[in-house]
Amino acid sequence: MSNWQELEHKYFMSTVERVPVTLVKGQGARVWDEDGREYLDFVGGWAVNSLGHCHPQVAEAVAKQAQTLIQTSNQFYTTPQIRLAELLVQNSCLDKVFFCNSGAEANEGAVKLARRYGKLYLNGAYEVITAMNSFHGRTLAMVAASGQSKFQQPYLPLPVGFINVEYNNIEAIKSATSKETCAVMLEPVQGEGGVNLPDDDYLAAVRAWCDQMGILLILDEIQTGIGRTGTLFAYEQYGVEPDIMTLAKGLASGVPIGAILAKDKASVFTPGEHGSTFGGNPLACAAGYATLKFIIDNDIAGNAKKMGQYLATGLKGLRRKFQFITDVRGCGLLVAMEFSSDIAQAMVTACLDRGLLVNRLKPNALRFIPPLIIGKGEVDEALGILDKSLSSIAG
Ligand SMILES: Cc1ncc(COP(=O)(O)O)c(C=O)c1O
Repeated sequence: MSNWQELEHKYFMSTVERVPVTLVKGQGARVWDEDGREYLDFVGGWAVNSLGHCHPQVAEAVAKQAQTLIQTSNQFYTTPQIRLAELLVQNSCLDKVFFCNSGAEANEGAVKLARRYGKLYLNGAYEVITAMNSFHGRTLAMVAASGQSKFQQPYLPLPVGFINVEYNNIEAIKSATSKETCAVMLEPVQGEGGVNLPDDDYLAAVRAWCDQMGILLILDEIQTGIGRTGTLFAYEQYGVEPDIMTLAKGLASGVPIGAILAKDKASVFTPGEHGSTFGGNPLACAAGYATLKFIIDNDIAGNAKKMGQYLATGLKGLRRKFQFITDVRGCGLLVAMEFSSDIAQAMVTACLDRGLLVNRLKPNALRFIPPLIIGKGEVDEALGILDKSLSSIAG
């Protein structure tokens, strides 16, 4: 074990089961450890490094902004913030933006916005209906929103105002709706909860129900947004428009940022009702602008779609070869491979030994969320390593 890993055990709170590698450098879809060993990165900072590691345009924007203006209070106008907000609005169905620092913070803000809307227009309605197996973040309210008991049980009692119902079941949403409901909040494709795809008509049915009841639809596109699923935003593929959308992860290709976007009708905050000291700082927004501009100008979402299909086809080929692969599913470069038994950890290690980083999604499933700029050669390389690793496990 390296000295760094011993020091981590001594000084750091143990909140994650780490992979025993200390990464010191990244470039494109590759990272290097402290001994100079190279890895192909199909974890991508948990779907964050949309343009890969240290993309020249992002690195340049950050370096330039770091020498110009890093942070001011939000009492002042700053140009990177406004430029990024304009670019987001011009390329989405939403009208207004608020910036923060993470996905959980964006979702908290989205729920606050929906509660304000409820107070103003729905007789004080405050409840938000969310889905089982969803993941919306780690703050207490977002743990209550995330329909997964493993995240909720350690922290009971949870904040009130969230009802978790079965995903892909419109009737469950209908029965949970009451005069206290102000919004439904969903991931278009559930990421952390298993890469679970919606049925073709589910999101449209939810949209129609929200319209009928006069409540808001919040889409959490923190993992699916910014090109990950093959379009700039996943909602585009399902023929629905949210009233509120949250973003984070891939928006600044690795620099921390979060965003709440809302239609004019749902943009009901007034001065003093919400805020964030670091949210929308010039440094993060310069990185966000450089990332988003590059993604739009170079159709990186189109690449994610193409490479996602290529990866899924290759994985389905492996499924035909290895009977213990029970499913391959996904959308763009958000792809999961499921096994008949709990071999995901063994696969993470087998791939690591061969120079590929993959994410253990569940004891019996892996998730592939590489940078959106990957090419065929890198997908072929990953598939080759997966093939060898699966063979080694099959014995
Ligand atoms: C869909 C979704 N929402 C929210 C979050 C929380 O984001 P953060 O970890 O930046 O708070 C995540 C993180 O995995 C996510 O996938």
